[in-house]
Amino acid sequence: MMFQRTAMIAGNWKMNPRHSDAEALVKTIAQGIEGLEGVDVLVAPPFTHLALVREAIGSARIFLGGQNMHWEMSGAFTGEISGRMLQEATCTHVILGHSERRILFNETSETVDLKVRAATFLGLIPIVCVGETLEEREAGQTFEVIRAQLDASFHNFKADQLMRPSTILAYEPVWAIGTGRTATPAQAQEVHRFIREWIENTFNTGTAAQVRILYGGSVKPENIADLMSEPDIDGALVGGASLKGDSFVQIIRYGKA
Ligand code: 13P
Repeated sequence: MMFQRTAMIAGNWKMNPRHSDAEALVKTIAQGIEGLEGVDVLVAPPFTHLALVREAIGSARIFLGGQNMHWEMSGAFTGEISGRMLQEATCTHVILGHSERRILFNETSETVDLKVRAATFLGLIPIVCVGETLEEREAGQTFEVIRAQLDASFHNFKADQLMRPSTILAYEPVWAIGTGRTATPAQAQEVHRFIREWIENTFNTGTAAQVRILYGGSVKPENIADLMSEPDIDGALVGGASLKGDSFVQIIRYGKA
């Protein structure tokens, strides 16, 4: 039996936009999705914008996520934010292990694992990112790299033999992020299928059928429909195009314009 997964379109704002532009951006999204059903919408602003964005969301159906967190609840960790703090700022989700954090800030799958565990313990839904570099793809190591990231980033889940079906994964090929070079729907589907099979083999078929796997990397209004037509692509994690209200709304409303 096919499990119907609700599509999710998530905007990762990264270190953008200015505080003064965030409110208008959220209002455009809120207006653009009014009455829309069947797709979950999320924005992940910088920490300093969370309160403002929550207020701007009002009663609109937009989930709020953090872009990172520390795995401890509190303590002497200068510059860090805990999962509990994200919850206090009304976040329901948190992006973990984004390639920019892995590559630019030396984040490892081992620390991602600690964060996944802490987030889940708190009831925050993790959006866990994996993806290969161009070098790795060209060396034919894509599946090997993804498997290693999955094994290590979900080490604790594996030990417990449990992945909550609400967990979200994101396949973000590093070579497609911010480059304008999108993975073809077939290239993305192949890896999404691989990830779903990994969930099935590591946990069980029911979980694999329910977990949503988002694609990220140069998603635009022009390519979203083709990506979403693939059976294992359940949504998108959008960077650049989520910073313009109109284009983000077009992505959310793909096929329903
Ligand atoms: P772009 O959409 O700008 O390529 O960024 C993708 C991304 O990293 C989302 O997390």
